[in-house]
Formats: sequence, structure tokens, C-alpha cells
Amino acid sequence: MRTEVAIIGGGPAGLLLSHLLSAEGIDSVIIEARSQEYVLSRIRAGILEHSTVELLDQIGLGRRLHAEGHEHRGIYLQWPEERHHIDFVDHVGRSVWVYGQTEVTKDLVAARERDGQEIYYEASDTAVHDIDSDAPYVTFTDSAGRPQRVDAVVIAGCDGSFGPSRAAVPDAVRHTWERVYPYSWLGILADVAPSTDELIYAWHPDGFAMHSMRSDTVSRLYLQVPNGTDVTTWSDDQIWDSLATRLGHGQDGWTLNPGPITDRSVLPMRSYVQTPMRHGALFLAGDAAHTVPPTGAKGLNLAVADVAALAPALTALLRGNNPKPAASYSDVALRRVWRCTHFSWWMTTMLHTSGDPFDEQLQLSQLRWVATSDAGAAGLAENYAGLPIGF
Ligand code: DHB
Repeated sequence: MRTEVAIIGGGPAGLLLSHLLSAEGIDSVIIEARSQEYVLSRIRAGILEHSTVELLDQIGLGRRLHAEGHEHRGIYLQWPEERHHIDFVDHVGRSVWVYGQTEVTKDLVAARERDGQEIYYEASDTAVHDIDSDAPYVTFTDSAGRPQRVDAVVIAGCDGSFGPSRAAVPDAVRHTWERVYPYSWLGILADVAPSTDELIYAWHPDGFAMHSMRSDTVSRLYLQVPNGTDVTTWSDDQIWDSLATRLGHGQDGWTLNPGPITDRSVLPMRSYVQTPMRHGALFLAGDAAHTVPPTGAKGLNLAVADVAALAPALTALLRGNNPKPAASYSDVALRRVWRCTHFSWWMTTMLHTSGDPFDEQLQLSQLRWVATSDAGAAGLAENYAGLPIGF
């Protein structure tokens, strides 16, 4: 079959790109390795920065987010004996919304289905071909086992860290940067009302802990654990006890309410950037080009920002006969990628303990400065609530 843009990956980046292109009358086909059920149920981050919400509003996909999501003015930053609120609205005039990536994906899938978008789920053996030519194509085996070929003008790699797009950029061209952190997160979902109105990021000598949420009745919490931790070795009681200690249960009358744990997993922490984000007819967006550690909740927001730059660049290329925005896509997108890579690294290394007593004192000094100085707090607020699209 033939299309204008072959999109590999039916997660939020690929779906959003297809949606934005379709609004410009540009045809696309989406090829996704997983099943639709899997894509719609996988648990991911839950914080939308200001510009992500603005974009979803602009394209008519903000209705459920505003009805069911929750606007947060800021976060709590804490260390033993002290909890400070950082108010993003006061500092930079922007807020964030708690609305799960899973929900964003559901809204996008529904919009694509209403539009009659072609999405191939459970595609295997997906491969990109001839990206150095003006006749690139994608091959895959569909869910019924039939070989398929999609001829396109360009290919968008929105297929995450493990998809084929990242590796399709020739070794002679690509540069990669990587940082593997010496700790992981044990994340739980629990059927219990959040014990806090806004997210708590906690530094503790035992390790980082965070209290997030998905709704009025579902809490999402994380604990720093050593790499290689087997999730089954932690009992529910041990998880809640560690969360209570690190989050300061009993401090100033604050209590952590435990509840039934419905999901648990261990998340490794890594920073990764691959450049360029365009090679020939292949354009990378989201995790296909970069990975951030989860601290700071930038992964989804960065993918959205990539796509917000890529869609008009492809529109200019395919409709306006103007190749310039496509030519500068990689450089433009990478400015924000490196900003978010730095912010995620900074939040991660400020909040996780590594056992080094000197580092701990620097972390506590940095936390105190961020929490108590307007200049420090404004820097965190500006990055967390998100720089404007196009920064
Ligand atoms: C969540 C994850 C994050 O990494 C973060 O910084 C904030 C929230 C979450 O899953 O809710």
C-alpha cells in the first residue's frame, strides 16, 4: 500500500503525529508492534506539562482531560523534617495536569478511529528500507501473518527505545550519549485515595520516594531501589513501611494511607540521546531518539514537543514545497531534548542517594536552595511546568 507518512509506533507520539498530519490533509499509516489492548493499558507517567495541555486543547482533545484530570499548581519537595511547596503558577504562571499517559493514548486512539485512520496492531518483523532514497518503504508482518509493504514519502520513527527506527540510522552517521544510573524505581499503583493534594518528591537517607496519583481513588508511588531488584522480594507491608518512612509519615501530623496494591514493577533509570533526529527520509520522535529517567515526568511531554515540531515540518515538506523546517527539525528538536535531558538528570541526581556522604551534603544544600530561594524555585518551576513549545 502507499501513504504519505508511514508512522512506526502507535503510542502517543505516533498517534498524535497522525492526528496533526490528518488535520492538514496528510495521509498516514500507523504500524504498531503491540496489541491495541496492551497499548491502551500500559501504565506510564501521569503528568502533563502546560504546553502539552495547550496543544491537546487546541486540537480538540482536552475535554476529558479537563473533566477528569486535576490541575496542580506545583509540587512538594522534602527531606527529613522539612516539606516545602514550590508553586509553579506563582513563579512562572504555568501549571501542570495529572492525567495519565494511558488516558491521553485512549483519547488519541478514539480520535484516530473516528477519522478512519489505518492502524496495524501486532505487527512483527517491522523494518525500514531505502531511507537514503526518495522511495523509502516499511515492511512488516501483519497480525494475520501476511507480509505487508508500505511505500511512503517519509517515515516517522515513533517506536520507542526498542523499535527498529533508532537502529536504522547508519552507524557512520549516528551519535549516541548515555548515562545509566546506579538505582531503579519500584513503582506501585494502589486503590487508595492519595494522601496528598499535590505530588511529593522526597529525599531520604534510605533513598528517594515519590507520591504521585492517577485519580481521586488511585495513588501511584515510587521507591528508589538497587538495580537488579526483583519486585517479588518486596512484600506489600515492606513497600508501605518504606514509603511511610521516606515520605515522612507522622511528621507534622501528615499520614500516608496504605491500600491494596494493584500493580508493581521495577523501572530502570537511564538517559540516552541519539542524533541526528532526521536521516534522509527517516524522522525520529519521542523515545525512538531519546530516553529520560522518569524523575520530573518529561518522557511523554518531550515526545509531544517533538511531534509538535515534526508535524508542521512534514506539512511544509509535503504540502508547501518547503524543505527548510524538515531540514532543521533535528536541530530544533534537540534544543529541547537536551534541556529536558539536563532537567531530568538534575532532578534524578539531586534526589537519589548514592551512599556518598559528600554528595549527600551537596544534595541537601541544593534542595534547600531550590525550596527556599525564589531564583532556585523558579528554575525548577520553569523546567517542570515546561518551557513553551518552540523553545
Ligand atoms: C509520575 C512519574 C514521574 O516520574 C514524575 O516525576 C511524576 C509523576 C507518575 O507516574 O505519576
